[in-house]
Amino acid sequence: MSWLYDAFVYKVISYVYPLINSRKNMNNNKSQAEKFKSLFGTRLPIVAGGLMWLSNAEYVAAAANAGILGFITAATFPDANDLRNEIRKCKSLANGNPFGVNVSMLPKLVPGEKTVEVFEIIIAEGIKIVETSGRNPEQYLPMLKAAGVKVIHKVPAVKYAFKAQEIGVDAVSYTHLTLPTTPYV
Ligand SMILES: Cc1cc2nc3c(=O)[nH]c(=O)nc-3n(C[C@H](O)[C@H](O)[C@H](O)COP(=O)(O)O)c2cc1C
Repeated sequence: MSWLYDAFVYKVISYVYPLINSRKNMNNNKSQAEKFKSLFGTRLPIVAGGLMWLSNAEYVAAAANAGILGFITAATFPDANDLRNEIRKCKSLANGNPFGVNVSMLPKLVPGEKTVEVFEIIIAEGIKIVETSGRNPEQYLPMLKAAGVKVIHKVPAVKYAFKAQEIGVDAVSYTHLTLPTTPYV
């Protein structure tokens, strides 16, 4: 009857193992959420990624007040003064809750090379969280890190996430939006 015993044990294991595994995953997810909250200072481990033309001061402040990490899209405000004013407006509405600025570095989306200028404004305005996207942010990391800015880089696939980790960003976020020829990292 040992086969019956083996079959019984196998059956028990096949039920219990997935339960143990899903519990492990739950704990892992929980610690990821805690890490996110302590890294970015939000109440919830949720990102509202930058939305060109849409994520303005009101939208981002609403996210911040709801405990979510939102981003003003720098590309929506190509004029330096407009970007500065939008950041200041968001600060005045966000009640001290954290928010960030999205810097999309897709050359086709943002004509002219203003990336350094945009980061300088972000740093001067005391913003401590940046979401980069569109291409490799490596060359800008030293200036951002020196100013205590945390960088979330947005990637469309796991291999780019590994590259982003290697160059030293603080976190990655995922997007399914891609352009076929874009080298993301
Ligand atoms: C209208 C629109 C505008 C967007 N603008 C930007 C942008 O300026 N910069 C950026 O990094 N991502 C931008 N995104 C990408 C989003 O932040 C987000 O990563 C993407 O929608 C994937 O999230 P989802 O899977 O929840 O839709 C935009 C997306 C949409 C739909």
